[in-house]
Amino acid sequence: MPPKKLKSALNNLLSAQKEKQKKSEKQKRAQQWEQERRKKQSQQQTQKQKTPYEFNDKILLVGEGNFSFARSLVESVVHGGDNITATCFDSEEVLAQKYEDESKDNIQVIEELGGTVLFEVDATQLEKCKAIKQRKFSKIVFNFPHAGAGIKDQDRNIQSNQVLLKDFFKSAAKLLQSRVEGDENDGEIHVTLKSGQPYDLWSIRTMAKSTDLLRPKTAFPFVPSLYPGYAHRRTLGFKEGLSKSGNEEIIDKKPKTYVFVRSQVMQDEIDKSKEGMAKKRSVMRDMQGPNKKKARTSSHPESDED
Ligand SMILES: C[S@@+](CC[C@H](N)C(=O)[O-])C[C@H]1O[C@@H](n2cnc3c(N)ncnc32)[C@H](O)[C@@H]1O
Repeated sequence: MPPKKLKSALNNLLSAQKEKQKKSEKQKRAQQWEQERRKKQSQQQTQKQKTPYEFNDKILLVGEGNFSFARSLVESVVHGGDNITATCFDSEEVLAQKYEDESKDNIQVIEELGGTVLFEVDATQLEKCKAIKQRKFSKIVFNFPHAGAGIKDQDRNIQSNQVLLKDFFKSAAKLLQSRVEGDENDGEIHVTLKSGQPYDLWSIRTMAKSTDLLRPKTAFPFVPSLYPGYAHRRTLGFKEGLSKSGNEEIIDKKPKTYVFVRSQVMQDEIDKSKEGMAKKRSVMRDMQGPNKKKARTSSHPESDED
């Protein structure tokens, strides 16, 4: 190749390489920018969201795993354990086997900060627990309930979880605070579930309604990062090498907290809002009345002649 052509070919090659490099740098910058944007967005969303638990709430937690949620509430969310009763289904010995030191440490902190921890509490038979049955709560919380029966058949598995939910609802409804009975506010039941199959097939709202005692009030996303230290656990406990640490088990499943109140409370709210709407309509009618008349008279000036 003549040297002139060689030089121009080389130049072309060099500028093509430069172009390629520029493009890849641009792409990298765009990716970094997008990552930053997403990080900021998720930080903003977390900041915007608040936990539904406050210092003066009287909270009963059932079906705790390693007690990390209870500890987080006491330590970081409501800042104090006086109003918190945290319970689990297992005996103290079984719990220690399942979760080893993590549950022991969590329980120690909860108790040191004034909280109460109870073992062998069946969420479907709360009336049988002496320490609980006479009390009333503003929030009764069951995070990620699961019958854990290990049933492979999907339909039977769903049924066993529906029975757990329904029996829990029946039992817990009786322990809710009630304004009619002189309590400061009406209590709520909070149940958090993963979204998607098979959880959506549990039909949690139908289960609550079928008790005739409860009605769904609202639902919102459950944000694990609002509960520092909370580490979700499966019913069988933590198995090194098999279980995932942190909250990978739930984060991808878009967990949701469903809120239920006693049927009468919901009915009262519906009645109140209907009343409010009716009042609003009547005020609007009153405001429109004279204008309408005016409009009519002005559009029919001849009627003035009568
Ligand atoms: C998937 S684990 C979730 C544990 C914990 N709540 C969490 O968020 O990490 C399901 C829990 O439901 C509990 N459970 C199942 N049946 C129960 C019952 N009848 N009463 C109370 N807890 C029950 C199990 O003991 C287990 O701890």
